[in-house]
Amino acid sequence: MLKMTSLSLAAAFVLGMAAPAVADGDAAAGEKVFRQCQACHVVKKGVNRVGPSLYGVVGRPAGTADGFKYSKAMAESGITWTEEQIDSYLADPRGVVKGTRMAFAGLKDEQDRLDVIAYIKEASK
Ligand code: HEC
Repeated sequence: MLKMTSLSLAAAFVLGMAAPAVADGDAAAGEKVFRQCQACHVVKKGVNRVGPSLYGVVGRPAGTADGFKYSKAMAESGITWTEEQIDSYLADPRGVVKGTRMAFAGLKDEQDRLDVIAYIKEASK
């Protein structure tokens, strides 16, 4: 009886650990990927460069960083930046927001995208 209980606890633990690991990025690796964004973005509240501040961008409606002048395309995109939306935008910026002023070819590698999103989340804490 006791043995059964600890076995199922162990199984639940393993399953619980495995599930989020699949879709999660690594913030430390993402910090390196972010070097490709740094020419234009910082993850600091209220600091816009060539691109808008990415502080708190996860969960934010597109085109709403204070004081940044967006393209019409971005301002009217109707996108909310869920992690999934950022992932597809980074894969193909101009395909997802036609007419965006973000002059960036995109991140081809899925893991790079997940990592950089994890970094942005971490740096926004
Ligand atoms: C050459 C400059 C440049 C680079 C490099 C760049 N961006 Fe951008 N980014 C911009 C500009 C400009 C905008 C605003 C686009 C518009 O208004 O159409 C933007 C917009 C965004 C937005 C939408 C923000 C919002 O407030 O709606 C996200 C998210 C984003 N960039 C993420 C990234 C990430 C992550 C990287 C690196 C992997 C990156 N960008 C690389 C210039 C850049």
